[in-house]
Amino acid sequence: MAQIVCVLGNKGGTGKTTLSHMISHGMALLGKRVVCVLTDLERERLSKENRLYLPFDARDAGNLAKVVATLNDVGDWFGVIDGGGNRSDTDSHLANLADLVLLPFRDSHEDMRTVLRDLEWMPRAWGLPSQWPADPAAHRMAQAATDELLGAFGHRLLDPIPHLAATKLLLQDRIPATLPWQLTNACVELAMQVFELLDIQYESPEAFAAPR
Ligand SMILES: Nc1ncnc2c1ncn2[C@@H]1O[C@H](COP(=O)(O)OP(=O)(O)OP(=O)(O)O)[C@@H](O)[C@H]1O
Ligand SMILES: [Mg+2]
Repeated sequence: MAQIVCVLGNKGGTGKTTLSHMISHGMALLGKRVVCVLTDLERERLSKENRLYLPFDARDAGNLAKVVATLNDVGDWFGVIDGGGNRSDTDSHLANLADLVLLPFRDSHEDMRTVLRDLEWMPRAWGLPSQWPADPAAHRMAQAATDELLGAFGHRLLDPIPHLAATKLLLQDRIPATLPWQLTNACVELAMQVFELLDIQYESPEAFAAPR
């Protein structure tokens, strides 16, 4: 049976689509076969060209059922499902299918209050700090807000994904043949966190070591 990761959350713009592609790209770089599943009715499907993973259009509920059934039949694939924001009914359906649920949030109180509710609502889900500031002062403020609002859930938060302009390249219809190493590293580090939560072995990232 394939493993299914769902990136969900009852809030728009937190980075669900970007993170779904980052996880898919990172998993592929770590030697896995991955399908990145689009469920958001407001978005277009993206081209396979130059991608190491397969983008799949499941905006139609029938297609979602098909891809999940196919993933359940094959052993060595991973499915990363990008949830559509603000659709609690879809999110709870997707959460039930998932081996792992990730809930991205940015460093705003509004996002944190929303993810707090989602973490309470989905007891097996993990919070994923997204678009996190790199500037030291802003980073300290973001950490202080996280401690204040999400302190009770600190054990269910992953390492932050940095704010990185290059992430938008993954959302282009056709991505460039080569991607900046900062993006590659962020994708691999995220995929490694996901594999650790799923207890999955992966190829050593040294195989494509990028400058740090
Ligand atoms: N790590 C990041 N660094 C910089 N920009 C980012 C990052 N992640 C996402 N973004 C940007 O933030 C915006 C929202 O991201 P994205 O579309 O992935 O969010 P979403 O949760 O899927 O939104 P929606 O709810 O509309 O589906 C986009 O402009 C995207 O390029
Ligand atoms: Mg989206």
